[in-house]
Amino acid sequence: MTGRLEGKVALVIGAARGIGKATAVRFAEEGARVIIADTEREAGEASAREIGALFVDLDISKLAAAEAAVALAVERFGRLDIVVQNAGIYPWQLLEQTSVEDWDRVLGVNLRGSFIAARAALVPMKQQGYGRILFTSSITGPHVTSPGHGHYSASKAGINGLIRAAALEFAGYGITVNGVEPGNILTEAIQLHRSPEFIKGMEDAIPLGRLGSPRDVANAFLFLASDEAAYITGTTIVVDGGQLLPEGADFRIMPDRP
Ligand SMILES: NC(=O)c1ccc[n+]([C@@H]2O[C@H](COP(=O)([O-])OP(=O)(O)OC[C@H]3O[C@@H](n4cnc5c(N)ncnc54)[C@H](O)[C@@H]3O)[C@@H](O)[C@H]2O)c1
Repeated sequence: MTGRLEGKVALVIGAARGIGKATAVRFAEEGARVIIADTEREAGEASAREIGALFVDLDISKLAAAEAAVALAVERFGRLDIVVQNAGIYPWQLLEQTSVEDWDRVLGVNLRGSFIAARAALVPMKQQGYGRILFTSSITGPHVTSPGHGHYSASKAGINGLIRAAALEFAGYGITVNGVEPGNILTEAIQLHRSPEFIKGMEDAIPLGRLGSPRDVANAFLFLASDEAAYITGTTIVVDGGQLLPEGADFRIMPDRP
């Protein structure tokens, strides 16, 4: 630990497992007091115990629940410096099979939930004259997509728009708003739901030759949450091992290697 978040209070939403958990762990390692918020109580409490964090049961699609979580953070720790809205769902569903209810469910967590997190976080952060609001976007939506990710892509592209709008509106209060766009990250969920063949195929498509780890994404969040990112707002960092770069499949040409 180097204490890059010493004295800071961070609420990480969607942190029972995966990228959110790695972010909560990374923040705690750097001295932050952390609140983990998630719909999954058992896994969330276990993750919170591991790092001495507080757990709060929260569905981020509900404004009152988000406001209560923010109020709890302020009550317990006296302030709230960092909010990461990482909760996201990604069911695979072609548009022609997607009902309006399916659409609303994905947008309700991923995009509405992001608006709600920003609205709730604004209250103490505005009073403090300081805040870091961070979102997990994705390369899927803002840059690329695949069949079956219509609602998901729309939600993540929407988050990037929200980041810019909130950054502009909150700048005068000393609050920065940014996001991270992960590529393919090897979380427990991906390992469970994707075949080894799919994972191997992804590795072959990524210039750095591997899927990302949750900690790779957490490190980008740490930077954006730290004082080193004080002059950065309204933007996103792509964490994808170079996946967005190739124009074609022949990108592994290395003249000095057989
Ligand atoms: N894994 C990847 O390759 C990848 C790539 C790009 C973006 N992302 C994004 O990263 C984020 C985390 O992904 P992950 O792979 O770690 O997923 P995950 O499913 O492992 O973790 C998501 C967490 O969010 C929680 N959650 C879900 N709905 C919630 C709600 N309504 N309120 C509060 N918590 C809720 C879940 O319980 C879980 O703990 C998501 O926003 C996802 O879209 C993931």
